[in-house]
Amino acid sequence: MPLRSAAGAPVVPASAAPVVAPDRAAAEEVPRPVPGSDDLPGIVKPLPAEWFVRHDTNAEMRWDALRDADGKPAVGRHVPVERFFVRNHTSTPLIDPVGWRLKLFGSALHGAPTPERAVRFALDDLRELPATRIDALIECAGNGRSYFDRQQGERAPGTPWALGSIGSANWRGVRLAEVLRAAGLTDRAVDVLPTGLDPDYVLDGTNYGPVRRPLPIAKALDDALLAYEMNGAPLTPDHGAPVRLVVPGWVGIASIKWVGSIEVADHPLRSPWNTEFYRMFGPAHPPGGGPALTAQVVKSAFELAEGARLTAGREHRLHGRSWSGTAPVRLVEVSTDGGRGWRRAELAEEPCAAGWTRWSIDWRPERPGRHELRARATDHGGAGQPERAVFNREGYLFGAVVAHPVTVV
Ligand code: MTE
Repeated sequence: MPLRSAAGAPVVPASAAPVVAPDRAAAEEVPRPVPGSDDLPGIVKPLPAEWFVRHDTNAEMRWDALRDADGKPAVGRHVPVERFFVRNHTSTPLIDPVGWRLKLFGSALHGAPTPERAVRFALDDLRELPATRIDALIECAGNGRSYFDRQQGERAPGTPWALGSIGSANWRGVRLAEVLRAAGLTDRAVDVLPTGLDPDYVLDGTNYGPVRRPLPIAKALDDALLAYEMNGAPLTPDHGAPVRLVVPGWVGIASIKWVGSIEVADHPLRSPWNTEFYRMFGPAHPPGGGPALTAQVVKSAFELAEGARLTAGREHRLHGRSWSGTAPVRLVEVSTDGGRGWRRAELAEEPCAAGWTRWSIDWRPERPGRHELRARATDHGGAGQPERAVFNREGYLFGAVVAHPVTVV
């Protein structure tokens, strides 16, 4: 029977979650809990309703929680770990960091062609390699999915995220490139395949196996990080402890949590996560689907509750954040009249591609009643936010301008 937090969110004590035994942590043949059973640990950390909206195995960050009741910032550039959204295909495994090993093998490694002959790294081995610290956003490819339905009347199945399946953090770890080279990388490498140690993903009776998604070697060598710290502390179970990948700018599924093995191949690799999931399907896309999703699109959000009540005849400071997967944000514009007129927002910091850009703008509403706010950003590469997003069957990459209703009283 799960415990309940004060705010009503189910909390499973860490003691009730299955611990992946040390000697099995890196083994492919780990017996995995069956998703859907009652004793699944789900998400380990508390999920207070004032910070999160729960969707099955996932927890969405509430944008209005970024400001406190007086309108003061409650969250800075980085989202504290306890407030960070969680996207789990199944449930958070508890992995003993002492016994954990990262196994690397495959046709593009010298002397480690098979899992049996894998090169193994303990957590201490990774910590002995040169450490790197980066800022990066993790954002689900489905962030904003619910707006396909709400704004465009085009319903996509899947987690009905608003704009809160995103978070910014500072990550510390070792560059994947460093570990690949230490494992004997050859110049024949084409793809790497990190695999998570969470339970198998089962959907509609099909077992897709453990969560795993190929990453092209160019991105792996460019800026992917094997992170063991988040915001200055060891990773917590829900965010991938003991080690996860962080793939800056790309859809969140690239950033495999609880990584146990990495295959390094001299040929293209496939898994359901680059063949069936995380690609665009539908009439506007190539027959058989578009390419595997990579970079994120431009988005903007207000740090304000939907339907927030604002007093008429008074100056209000509206706050928000904008981001892009490919380039720093260049310009943010806000409309307070349903998209007819646009004003330039004031940027609170020098935009950089690695995070989001905070902004604000004054608004003095005179007329009581319902109003629609909108924010749109343009990045340095010229990418912006259209009025409509191109629909795809799974509802990925909703980058259109979002209408944010408020009531003036
Ligand atoms: N890795 C594993 N092993 N299992 C998962 O379910 N979810 C992915 C990615 N890595 C996932 C995973 C998705 S879709 C996202 S958006 C991010 O993790 C979410 O990271 P977070 O839960 O730390 O916010």
